[in-house]
Amino acid sequence: MPIPLIDLFAGPGGLNEGFSRVLTKSGKPAFDTLVSVECEPWAHRTLELRALVRKLARDDRDSDYYRYIRGELSREELFERSGSAGIAAKHEALRARLGASPSEDKAIEERIDHAIKRSKAKEFVLIGGPPCQAYSIAGRSRRARELRSDFESDEKHVLYREYLRIVSKFRPAVFLMENVPGLLSASLSGTRTFDLIRDDLSSAGYDLYPLNAPATPGQSDQDVRRFVVRAEEHGVPQARARVFILGLRRDLSLKAATLPRNGDRTNNVLDAIKDLPRIRSKLTKETDSGAAWAAAIGQLAEYETMSHDLFFDRELRRAISEVNEHLPLGTGRPQVPKGEPTILHDWYHDPKLKAVLNHNSRGHMRRDLMRYFFWSCYARHFGRSPKLSDAPHYLRPDHGNVQGDATEAPFADRFRVQLGNRPSTTITSHIGKDGHYYIHPDPSQCRSLSVREAARLQTFPDNYFFEGAATDQYRQVGNAVPPYLAYKIGNLIVGILNA
Ligand SMILES: C[S@@+](CC[C@H](N)C(=O)[O-])C[C@H]1O[C@@H](n2cnc3c(N)ncnc32)[C@H](O)[C@@H]1O
Repeated sequence: MPIPLIDLFAGPGGLNEGFSRVLTKSGKPAFDTLVSVECEPWAHRTLELRALVRKLARDDRDSDYYRYIRGELSREELFERSGSAGIAAKHEALRARLGASPSEDKAIEERIDHAIKRSKAKEFVLIGGPPCQAYSIAGRSRRARELRSDFESDEKHVLYREYLRIVSKFRPAVFLMENVPGLLSASLSGTRTFDLIRDDLSSAGYDLYPLNAPATPGQSDQDVRRFVVRAEEHGVPQARARVFILGLRRDLSLKAATLPRNGDRTNNVLDAIKDLPRIRSKLTKETDSGAAWAAAIGQLAEYETMSHDLFFDRELRRAISEVNEHLPLGTGRPQVPKGEPTILHDWYHDPKLKAVLNHNSRGHMRRDLMRYFFWSCYARHFGRSPKLSDAPHYLRPDHGNVQGDATEAPFADRFRVQLGNRPSTTITSHIGKDGHYYIHPDPSQCRSLSVREAARLQTFPDNYFFEGAATDQYRQVGNAVPPYLAYKIGNLIVGILNA
């Protein structure tokens, strides 16, 4: 019997996806998601769709899903044709806001309660944690005895209280709480927020454990550094540090375990994205065409590079002369694959898909195109993303703070290339707005990363479809726990429960 799973603050379902792909020794899914709760409409639509795909795939009835993502069926038709699986998916993915009102909280609790009772399983696992703002501390008190009441009365902690209430009420055998590293340094009048949380959960009957093994002999289980998991150490092609707290219900006497260290090779940006179709960006604020786009980049050739490096200057000029105006635009519509993933092949690849989803390219202004081109050529030649001070004057932003040689500029790395031979920097929920930080390493595409490329760096499988406009899709991707990391954690938890 699969282990029931409840997912709170579920986002687009990254954590859930990883757990859903854990198999038992007999090859059956080890977990069964009963309820996932998410309030944001587009993330919820993605979550609901994924819940449906899983149910259809179980009975080999997922052909309609592929028709849907190719645009051959509407969403309504897909759900209607899916019959009971469609109804069950809608029931599983609950669009609701925790902490919004007593009646909404009651409805969420009733759904969880009902699902757990129906599953007839003895124990279940709770995943997902309240979002990071829940811990940002406002209103500091100097009096120690007021600490807890301050902490609890701050409205930003409503979500944390909700979480604690659900843990206390439903008493999962195991919970996994994810958060940003800032959680570990937040404090209230000198007391660490993390310690308050630890006390609360301990009083609720849980022992808390980190997922990292000791870095040095004798490093304690309670050393906060052990709670920070670095995704890049576990095969994810992205530097992403997140806090994971594993809670084991004390009365079950479960034995904690940690993620194996260095079990994976380091995966890099180009390893993860180089097989995706090459697409150009769009020229904005002017009439776009392949020729206009190539000409805008070509304008770079009119200027001195001022790099003082003859080899780089030559390389830049050659790259400009090779810009291909016939490169297709990434429209976001399904595209024809040009190859297959070169790393984590079985994880990403779906032979039934035969399409590349959410591979849209963004639009950039003429000056940004010139910057992106220069920046990515520079990174390819020198092996690092240039600072503003490495760029010629005419490419620096027209900003009061960015004058002279720009070494003192407050945003010296305002533009950043993702280096091809390293894990990417953290894919954040702002990636849709911060395209300058996610410049593609291949100058000839001259653009920021597409949603699919960001999803690859987050280890979403290629058949994971993100709903909404591009900005909604980027936000969902950036918010998620990398599914491949979640898969490893899911395996660890199965091991703990079956030991
Ligand atoms: C960091 S993301 C979670 C990512 C998710 N665990 C994953 O792996 O995909 C946090 C999510 O919590 C949702 N959220 C925030 N406040 C919420 C609330 N009060 N009730 C339900 N969901 C909420 C946000 O919309 C966001 O999608």
